[in-house]
Amino acid sequence: MDETVLYDISYGLYLIGAAYENTPTGCIANTVFQVSAFPPKVAVSLNHDNFTSACIKNMMEFSVSIVTENIAPDIISKFGFFSGKNTYKFENIEYKKIMNSLPVLTQNISGWLHCKVENIVDIGTHAIFIAEVIDSERLSNEPPMTYAYYHKNVKGKAPKNAPTYREEPKNLSENIEYVCEVCGYVYKGGDFESLPDDWVCPVCKVPKSRFSPKT
Ligand SMILES: Cc1cc2nc3c(=O)[nH]c(=O)nc-3n(C[C@H](O)[C@H](O)[C@H](O)COP(=O)(O)O)c2cc1C
Repeated sequence: MDETVLYDISYGLYLIGAAYENTPTGCIANTVFQVSAFPPKVAVSLNHDNFTSACIKNMMEFSVSIVTENIAPDIISKFGFFSGKNTYKFENIEYKKIMNSLPVLTQNISGWLHCKVENIVDIGTHAIFIAEVIDSERLSNEPPMTYAYYHKNVKGKAPKNAPTYREEPKNLSENIEYVCEVCGYVYKGGDFESLPDDWVCPVCKVPKSRFSPKT
C-alpha cells in the first residue's frame, strides 16, 4: 500500500467550539465535511482523548468556525497542540458565544455553523460526530484556509491526535535542524536524536517529542 496517496485527499481547517460548565473550549480539526443538504448535516472526526470530544458528548452540540488564510498561526498552535484539559484556550482571543454557550471566533473566519449532534460513530481512535446545522452566519468573504495551504504556507504539522497525522521519516544526520511544532523554535545544535529524553524546548518548554526535522 502507498500511504502517500492518502495525502492527496483535500480538507479545510476549522476551529470546533464546545463548552464545559459554561467555559468555552475547542480544538482544531481538518476533518469537517458536509454529508447531506436537506437538511444540511456535517460530520467531524475527533480523537476520543480530545477534551473537546468529551464536551461535545456532554452537550451534544458544537460550533464550527471556518478559519481563513489570515488566521494567526498561534491560534492554530493553541487550539491544535494544547488541551482544554489543562489550558484555558480562549484567553486573549476575540470570540462570541452563540446560544449563550458555544464559542465562535469573531475575526479571521469566513463564518460559523451551529451544529446539533444526531449520531456518534465510534471508529476506534476517533469518533465521528454527525450533526445537523441549525444556524450559521457569514462574517467575511476572505478565502477559507485549506489543509494544503496550512502545510505549505504556515509550515505547520498535524499532531498525533489528528486523523491525518503523518509520521516523519527518521533522519539520523547530525546536521539536520529540528523545529518545535508549537512555537516554531529551530534547534541548530546538531545531533538532535542524542539529546536527553527530558530535554525541553528552550522557548515554550514542550518536550522533545514535539520537534520534527525541518523540511
Ligand atoms: C492542522 C491540524 C488538524 C487537526 N485535525 C484534527 C482532527 O480532524 N481531529 C482531531 O481529533 N484532532 C485534530 N487535530 C488535533 C487537535 O486539535 C489537538 O489534539 C488538540 O490539542 C485537542 O485539544 P482538546 O484536548 O482541548 O480537545 C488537529 C490539529 C492540527 C494542528
